Amino acid sequence: MYLHGTSKINGKGHLEIGGCDATDLVQTFGTPLYVVDETLVRKQCSEYMEAFRASGLQFQVAYASKAFCVMAMCKLAEEEGLSLDVVSDGELFTALQAGFPAERIHFHGNNKTPEEISMAIDAGIGCFVIDNFVEMHLVNQIGAEKGVKVKALFRVTPGVEAHTHEYISTGQQDSKFGFDITNGSAARAFAEAKELANIEILGVHSHIGSQIFEVEGFQMAVQRVADFSQAIREQQGITFTVVNLGGGFGIRYIDGHTPLPISQYVKAITDAVKTYFAANEYPVPQIWVEPGRSIVGEAGTTLYTVGTVKEIPGIRKYVAVDGGMTDNPRPALYQSKYEAILANRATEQSEETVSIAGKCCESGDMLIWDLALPKVNIGDVLAVSCTGAYNYAMASNYNRIRRPAVVFVRNGEADVVVKRESFQDIVANDLIPARMG
Ligand code: LLP
Repeated sequence: MYLHGTSKINGKGHLEIGGCDATDLVQTFGTPLYVVDETLVRKQCSEYMEAFRASGLQFQVAYASKAFCVMAMCKLAEEEGLSLDVVSDGELFTALQAGFPAERIHFHGNNKTPEEISMAIDAGIGCFVIDNFVEMHLVNQIGAEKGVKVKALFRVTPGVEAHTHEYISTGQQDSKFGFDITNGSAARAFAEAKELANIEILGVHSHIGSQIFEVEGFQMAVQRVADFSQAIREQQGITFTVVNLGGGFGIRYIDGHTPLPISQYVKAITDAVKTYFAANEYPVPQIWVEPGRSIVGEAGTTLYTVGTVKEIPGIRKYVAVDGGMTDNPRPALYQSKYEAILANRATEQSEETVSIAGKCCESGDMLIWDLALPKVNIGDVLAVSCTGAYNYAMASNYNRIRRPAVVFVRNGEADVVVKRESFQDIVANDLIPARMG
């Protein structure tokens, strides 16, 4: 397993993250356990900030909180000077509850409810990313009722398909998100928005997909957006002051994944902005981005305890852990691949090939197929790396399995930032109708 961030194998032959021995973490907090390398998260944040500072452009780096939205993470993002992208009232509430400055919050989503729009305007968020015509008029109307002129970006689909799994690509024309540039609906959106008294147009937003390794998709999106911006300027006299290029920067889950250093993605984007906007003699706008996975993904490790082993001679050996698709649905949803080691026997040679099964009642609940490990014993601690993004965020209570705790580790200290769910939490919202006696 590739050792990310501060992860290392210590003198006892145990995995250590943030100066904390994984077996100690398991003793103290139990399993399954999400462990987040706080130093690595902060490093990723500052790499984005530094790279943009170096570009000389005005910018915002908005952490896409959907990747992992808990109060401590919002607090960390605030401390690192990031802005925040939220997509629901729940994410907004979490951010506000953590004291995140509202003016640095951007609100996304293709179906914001009137209640969500109202809540966000009342909170004084920095801007809406308007996704469609219905929302545009709703935001204007609610803004009018409240006497607020609402700042807005407009999400467009630039017609760029990034190389990624089909379910997580969003920049292509056939998408539930945004206004299409090619068929003219994006231009029509601005023409209409210009006439709306309670909308202040900041600019345009484009997100081309997720887990992207190449810069070409981003460069192409910048070019399309620059040309579109120029067309809107000429035809409608609107000049954008903000261009948001979304997230999607890839990370290394397994061997063979080859993400670029953050600085290179940022340089490719900022250079493209300078080139394509300058070519049109367009005043260079502020550049915003929204990384999620690349901020938190590699910093997360999930620790499990091995509970049962089943060998089917000549076919396969299943090793079952005390979690699964409830804490990491990504293998089941996207056939995502992960690496893992035995955290308590990290220096031992691999001796067998096993497949890691979750404990949910369905055959699709597999975490890793064909993993080389030392001969696995019941009670071993399995550490799966790169689980920081879209794991806790997408966790469920399927089979009424309690969601794990999350700990932040740093310099030998471990702090619980999300408590393990209790049995009481599991039934907290259940009611038995009185008529049932
Ligand atoms: N901005 C927008 C508008 C997005 O839709 C997304 C991700 C991001 C930013 C952040 O993208 P990132 O930097 O994290 O790639 N559940 C899937 C990923 C869905 C991504 C949805 N949008 C997964 O587990 O891979």
